[in-house]
Amino acid sequence: MTSIGILGTGRVGGGLARALATTGHRITLGHRQPPLETPADGTGAVPAIRHTDQRTTAATTDIVINATPGGTTLDRLSALHTELAGKILIDISNATRHTPDGLPSDLCYPGDSLAERLQRALPATRVVKTLNTMLFPVMTAPADLSTPPTAYLSGDDADAKAITAGLLADLGWKPEWIEDLGDITTARATEALVLLVPHVLRRHGLRPFAVSLAR
Ligand SMILES: NC(=O)c1ccc[n+]([C@@H]2O[C@H](COP(=O)([O-])OP(=O)(O)OC[C@H]3O[C@@H](n4cnc5c(N)ncnc54)[C@H](OP(=O)(O)O)[C@@H]3O)[C@@H](O)[C@H]2O)c1
Repeated sequence: MTSIGILGTGRVGGGLARALATTGHRITLGHRQPPLETPADGTGAVPAIRHTDQRTTAATTDIVINATPGGTTLDRLSALHTELAGKILIDISNATRHTPDGLPSDLCYPGDSLAERLQRALPATRVVKTLNTMLFPVMTAPADLSTPPTAYLSGDDADAKAITAGLLADLGWKPEWIEDLGDITTARATEALVLLVPHVLRRHGLRPFAVSLAR
C-alpha cells in the first residue's frame, strides 16, 4: 500500500488526512511540533494517522502532500530535497501576499508559479499541482456542491498525475470533474485563480465553492 505524508495539519491538511485515512490509506501527518500523544479524532475511533515532524513525514512516505503556507513553501521544501527525491509531491498551497484581514491580495510569483519553482528546485521529485482552486471543505466532499466542481491537474509526469487522480477519486471526485491541464507550467493559471478568493469570501463568507469549468 502506498503511504501518504501530509505537511501541515490545518484546515486543508487535517481534512485530507481524515478523509484519506477513512478510505484506507496509511497517513502520516507532519507537524512543526509533533504532539506527544496521538490526538483523538473526535469520533472515539482510533484514526489510522501517524503524527510526526515534517522532515520525517517527507522521508518516510511515498507521496507527500504540501498543505502549508505557500509563501514560505519553496524554501522549506527545497531544504527537504533529499527526503523528497523520487517521490510525488502534490502541492495544494497558494503562494500569496495577504491584506491585514488575512485574505490573499496578490501572488508571490507573478510571471511564474510556486509549482514551477518547486519543480525546478526539486528535479528528482515529480510535482503535481491540484485542489488549490476551492475552499477546503470541497476537497473532501466535492459532491456536496450543487454544481459539479473542477479539480485541475498540472504536472510534467503523466504517471504522477494518474496517481493523484486516483487519490482524488478516493475523495469522491468523478473522472469528469478532473481536468488535466498539461505540464507544470499550467499551474501558473490555476495559482492565479486565488485572486478571486478574497472577493468571493467577502461577499459570501465561508460558504464552500470551487472555481470550476462550466460547459
Ligand atoms: N483553506 C483553504 O480553503 C485553502 C484552499 C486552497 C488552498 N489552500 C492552501 O493550502 C495551504 C494550507 O491552508 P490551510 O487553510 O490549511 O492553512 P492553516 O489552517 O493555516 O494550516 C496550515 C498548516 O501548516 C503548518 N504551518 C504553518 N506555518 C508553517 C510554517 N511556517 N512552516 C511549516 N508549516 C507551517 C501548520 O501545521 P502545524 O501547526 O501542525 O505545523 C498549519 O496548521 C495554504 O497554502 C493555502 O493557501 C487553502
